[in-house]
Amino acid sequence: MTIGTDIDKAARLILDGALVAVPTETVYGLAADATNDRAVAAIFAAKKRPSFNPLIAHVHSRRAAEEHAYFTPLAEKIAAAFWPGPLTLVLPRREGSPISELASAGRPTLAVRSPAHPVMRALLEAVGRPIAAPSANPSGAISPTRAQHVAEGLGDAVAMILDGGPCVVGVESTIVKVVGDHAMLLRAGGIPREAIEAIAGPLAARGDAVEAPGMMESHYAPAARLRIGDDPRPDEAFLAFGDAREHPHALNLSRTGDLVEAAANLFACLHALDAMARERGLKGIVAMRAPEKGLGEAINDRLARAAAPRP
Ligand code: TXA
Ligand code: MG
Repeated sequence: MTIGTDIDKAARLILDGALVAVPTETVYGLAADATNDRAVAAIFAAKKRPSFNPLIAHVHSRRAAEEHAYFTPLAEKIAAAFWPGPLTLVLPRREGSPISELASAGRPTLAVRSPAHPVMRALLEAVGRPIAAPSANPSGAISPTRAQHVAEGLGDAVAMILDGGPCVVGVESTIVKVVGDHAMLLRAGGIPREAIEAIAGPLAARGDAVEAPGMMESHYAPAARLRIGDDPRPDEAFLAFGDAREHPHALNLSRTGDLVEAAANLFACLHALDAMARERGLKGIVAMRAPEKGLGEAINDRLARAAAPRP
């Protein structure tokens, strides 16, 4: 495995059927040619991901997305407002799309996203095909927002890590399912609910596990136990937010209470606190909730899953 910045090399590897970790504005992705069944199967194997959990197909533009999925006027309106960017649309899959059935886990729908990261956009152009990519972490573990996180989590399972620097958004894309003129929030993420509702009207309640099979209760979990609270004991690591109390084993998502800064720091802080807990022999991690507005909804969702009982 190599870490580098050569986009043409990454494109050649993907066209050859290899796995490449790629930067996006949300988190790093574990990428393969979405039209290559064997390469897509290798993604599931590398992550130890259950094969019923479908992948997002990344495309350069809405025109490219339309080759693989049907857009209603509402879906077009949402894409026009937020693409390229941290938004995924779940739409009816188009018959005849060359995307692997394994990528969409045999479902009649397809998740599509046009990412904003300039390196990922250049890669999509060089590959000229849709790229399937889940987050580049072992299934259930903390998502990667640095090339180094991918190296630690997946290591030699990838041929190359394309280094695009730290991810600026820091939480995964918001997932919206559109059926006709009806939109439903399946996952809170990098575009706040309020911004989408300003364009699309009120979003229906979040789908259950059946709607987004990857939204299993326990996810994003550090090795150390994590609980939600603002009352760290001396033998716990502390993920603080805003004007929190001082603590010897603390990292703060944003001292000024800025939710954009907090989201960008979230997974890197969880990785760092996990290492701190291990090195200092701490009992676990305590994380403060963010206010439930804007990107706070996605931050709290990830923290709740990191704290959930594990299988
Ligand atoms: O920001 C992101 O979305 C990142 C970057 C790499 O693009 N990707 C990402 O992928 O978070 P992943 O696989 O970790 O999460 C995708 C979620 C899963 O919960 C999956 O179940 C859901 O999307 N999903 C994919 N296809 C779906 C479909 N057809 N219907 C409903 N949910 C779907
Ligand atoms: Mg993931």
